[in-house]
Parts: sequence; structure tokens; C-alpha cells
Amino acid sequence: MAIARLVACFVLYTSLGHIPSSFGVILRTTDKTVWANEFESIELTCLIESISTNNPRIEWKKIKNGVPSYVYFQNRIAGDLEHRAQLREPANILIFNTTRSDTAEYRCEVAAIDDQRDFDEILISLAVRVKPVVPRCSVPEAVTVGTSTELRCLENEGFPAPQYRWFHNNEELPQDPKNSPKLVNSSYSINPDTGGLKFRRVRKEDAGEYYCQAKNDAGHAQCPPLMMEVYDVDILGIFLKSFGALIVFVCLTGSICHSLRRGCFHKKGHNENNYNWPAQTDGVDYGDADEGHFRHKSSFII
Ligand SMILES: *[C@@H]1O[C@H](CO)[C@@H](O)[C@H](O)[C@H]1NC(C)=O
Ligand SMILES: *[C@@H]1O[C@H](CO)[C@@H](O)[C@H](O)[C@H]1NC(C)=O
Repeated sequence: MAIARLVACFVLYTSLGHIPSSFGVILRTTDKTVWANEFESIELTCLIESISTNNPRIEWKKIKNGVPSYVYFQNRIAGDLEHRAQLREPANILIFNTTRSDTAEYRCEVAAIDDQRDFDEILISLAVRVKPVVPRCSVPEAVTVGTSTELRCLENEGFPAPQYRWFHNNEELPQDPKNSPKLVNSSYSINPDTGGLKFRRVRKEDAGEYYCQAKNDAGHAQCPPLMMEVYDVDILGIFLKSFGALIVFVCLTGSICHSLRRGCFHKKGHNENNYNWPAQTDGVDYGDADEGHFRHKSSFII
């Protein structure tokens, strides 16, 4: 008996579940979350499951950052979608040429005055994918063997945010060098989210042309290749050290000459002022001698 009653209740319940649809407006969509590629068309579906009213009022609103605006109002496409969209039976909206600014929530609202349940709405979120543009890449021109360095790649337009890949002499670098027999000894690591290519210890073999590619579901773009040279020794360091040594040398000679000259003045210059002139010419000569040392030193570096 109890079971029979339960079944009866269930039958009544399920049939009741269908009844409201006959006297109320009910909307449905095929996709609540819609992805579209920029500059392509997309249709947001607003299907009317049931309705009795002959001429329901249909409206579409766009809600961006919490601010609603009409995109279909009084039987016309309006606002941001004007001249770019069209209403399609029953209440779908077709955007011919999406742009990144169309990324927003869209609400289809249908009012049916002759229905008992005279209003329904449905919210659809649209995300427009944007192709990455050419990323900005930075590759050091010259690095020293054994030092660490980082190559960078950045792209800001793509949506969703792109993933980055690096190429060395036109061959893609695997994310982990351990996965390639050829690169097993390289110390690099790639962060595909940030675009960084880091070397812990640069090797001679790491020299070459590098470029980076930014890629998302909408497409990809890459920067032109840039050359990274790898030197055995730190040329800049040697230059700076030699330059420092040269300055110390010049200062030393300078001060020695100065004290020598002062010594001379003490002996001779005090009584006979005429000696000042030759003494100064002597000073200029010392300067020439310094330059001579400088040339010698610099040619030694080269
Ligand atoms: C789509 O819109 C962009 C500008 O928003 C325009 O450059 C492009 O030509 C349009 N494409 C079509 C197929 O109308
Ligand atoms: C990697 O290093 C090991 C040990 O130094 C060496 O035997 C091997 O030949 C290297 N492999 C490559 C591909 O350079």
C-alpha cells in the first residue's frame, strides 16, 4: 500500500513538474560559459522552453564590471553591439565580429505578460580569446662561461595569458634539458608562465640565436631571433681591472713626479725663479711619458 502511494505521489510530482511550463515562460541556454575568438562570430543562445504569450518582450543586457547596459532593447540592437549583431529566433543574439571588449556577462530577459509566470532571465558569460602579439624578448648579447644569466619574454595582449616557449638555433628547447640527450649538460630552466629562460651556468654550447614564442588557444606570435655570445673569459672584467691598474699606475707616477719636482724646487727653484719655466716644461714631458705608458698598456690589453 505504502509503495503504491509513494509511486502515486511520484507520478503526481513528475507530472506537476511539467505543468508550470505550460503557463509560464522558461528560458534555457546551450552554453552558460562561451568562448569566442576575436574577430570571429559567436551566437549566445537564449532558448524559450515554454511560453503562451504571442509577442514576448525580449531584452539583452551586457554586464561589465557590475555595470549593466542594453545591447538589445525595443526590438533593436543597441549600445556596444550596434551594427555588429543580430537577434535570431527565438531570442539568440549573434555577434558577427567579436572584439576583446565584448568579454562580459550577458543577460537574456524575456517578459511574457499573458503567462502566469511572466518573466525569466538567463545569464551567459562570454570570454573573447585574443591572439598574442609579438612578444618583447631580451637576450644578453654576451655572457661569460660559467656565469648565470636570464633571457626574458613578455606578451601583454593575449587572452587567456599565453604560455611561452623558447627556441635555440631554431630548435625548441624542451622545458627540462634532462629530456634531451643533446642538452643534458645544459643548466637552463624555462618558466612557461612567466617566459623566463634561466641559465645557472652558461656553457660555450649555449651560444647562438634565441627567440621566444607566446601561444594561447587563439594563436601564437614570436619575437625575431637574437644572438647571445658566450666568452671563455670575462673580457669586461679584465678591461676594468686593467683600467683600474692603469689609473693606480698613473696616480703613482703622478705623485712620484710631483714629489720629485717639489724636491727640485727645494734645491734650485728657491733662489732662481727662472728655473720655474724649464721645470714646467719638464712636467709636460712627464705627461707625454704617461701617455706613452697608457698606449703601451692599452695595446697590451688588445
Ligand atoms: C572586425 O572588426 C575589426 C575592428 O574591430 C576590423 O578591423 C575587421 O575588419 C572586422 N572584421 C570583419 C570580418 O568585419
Ligand atoms: C655531458 O657531460 C658528460 C660528463 O662531463 C660527458 O661525458 C658527456 O659527453 C656530455 N654530454 C654532452 C651531450 O655534451
